[in-house]
Amino acid sequence: GAGYFTYDPGFLATASCESSITYIDGGKGILQHRGYAIDALAKDADYLEVCYILLYGELPNKEQYEEFKDIITNHTMVHEKIAHFFQGFLPDAHPMAMVCAVVGALSSFYHSDLDINDPNQRIRSAHRLIAKMPTIAAMAYKYSIGQPFVYPRNDLSYAENFLHMMFSVPAEEYTVSPTLARAMDRIFTLHADHEQNASTSTVRLAGSSGANPYACIAAGVASLWGPAHGGANEACLNMLEKIGDVSRVDEFVAKAKDKNDPFRLMGFGHRVYKNFDPRATVMRETCHEVLTELGIQDPLLDVAMALEKVALEDPYFIEKKLYPNVDFYSGIILKAIGIPTNMFTVIFAMSRTVGWISHWHEMLGQPGQKIGRPRQNYVGEIDREFQPLDKR
Ligand code: SDX
Repeated sequence: GAGYFTYDPGFLATASCESSITYIDGGKGILQHRGYAIDALAKDADYLEVCYILLYGELPNKEQYEEFKDIITNHTMVHEKIAHFFQGFLPDAHPMAMVCAVVGALSSFYHSDLDINDPNQRIRSAHRLIAKMPTIAAMAYKYSIGQPFVYPRNDLSYAENFLHMMFSVPAEEYTVSPTLARAMDRIFTLHADHEQNASTSTVRLAGSSGANPYACIAAGVASLWGPAHGGANEACLNMLEKIGDVSRVDEFVAKAKDKNDPFRLMGFGHRVYKNFDPRATVMRETCHEVLTELGIQDPLLDVAMALEKVALEDPYFIEKKLYPNVDFYSGIILKAIGIPTNMFTVIFAMSRTVGWISHWHEMLGQPGQKIGRPRQNYVGEIDREFQPLDKR
């Protein structure tokens, strides 16, 4: 049928939004959070400082930072009943499936504190989610490997606590390496927020209906899972492992160029960056730092560097503006830290929770906020006459 597209001023109100959280210039490869460049934040701030900036809009002073750290630290435990949710999953359940389900269930533990029109209750939900995501993520990992859950500790930093909950076992004390903790913290920061990407837009759309914050974040987790989005880090490492050796890079590059081959190079390209993803630049440096400090010679890094070289020199990639993105190097660092590939997107979800919840909080604080209603261009049939079944 003829396509009907009516211009509706309301369209702009639903399709676009105003935000002061993150600024991206894809052409220039610029990413700033509240006006602060991502490379400065990744190198000179820790993840909780970045969480503060995203949530409140300003750099915290020492007193504000210490108070925020205490608040988050004192929300890291989850209700004991949460542990029972995991028992319902089969042992081979994907950790993203577990995290998505458990985060959505959190709303049932806080239903007396879910008035989304009360900014204080919104901020308390934000604190709980930022604090509890690492605990839930580590529980999903421990369940998937059949080890007991490890409780959070108040004497550890955010990144140290996560690694401790992931790798500590009752049989022996786990000492968190400062190198790994620093690398983990930087990965959290580099994934913290990225403007109106698919999962953040999902959270905002869910939040615009008045849904509770835990349901909105669970929707964000679900949207992030796809290989075109947050699932790319897991897909990227699986791709590097499939390529296996530098000698096979050209074979896969040819597949990526072949219009008839659905294969795409995971970790390359971006909806917005048609230049280098500034996060990939920092991630690349961190990748080399971690592997050097840990003395790891990872053949997958050789494959990754060979692929990067192609992307920066091959006319096809240059013409298509395909550069390595944030997911390209993160998988190699996470693997060096000892994290399995099925946990990569969970870590992305953990890191992005502060971005999601900051956008949710900002949106609900904006005057005249309406329910989102993206429009469509109808291209189906119109005004058809119904035929009863015995006449068809
Ligand atoms: C994230 O939005 C965000 O901010 C996301 C994110 C965030 O922080 O939230 O940055 C996180 O999701 C990063 C992206 C991770 N995804 C991947 O690495 C998966 C592989 N990348 C592709 O799926 C793709 O590049 C996208 C989805 C990321 C971007 O797709 P676009 O902008 O729609 O680009 P496109 O599909 O229009 O591609 C343009 C051209 C196409 O060729 P033509 O049809 O013009 O001939 O480039 C080609 C594509 O075929 N192309 C690729 C490619 N990506 C695009 N060819 C080979 N390998 C690729 N990876």
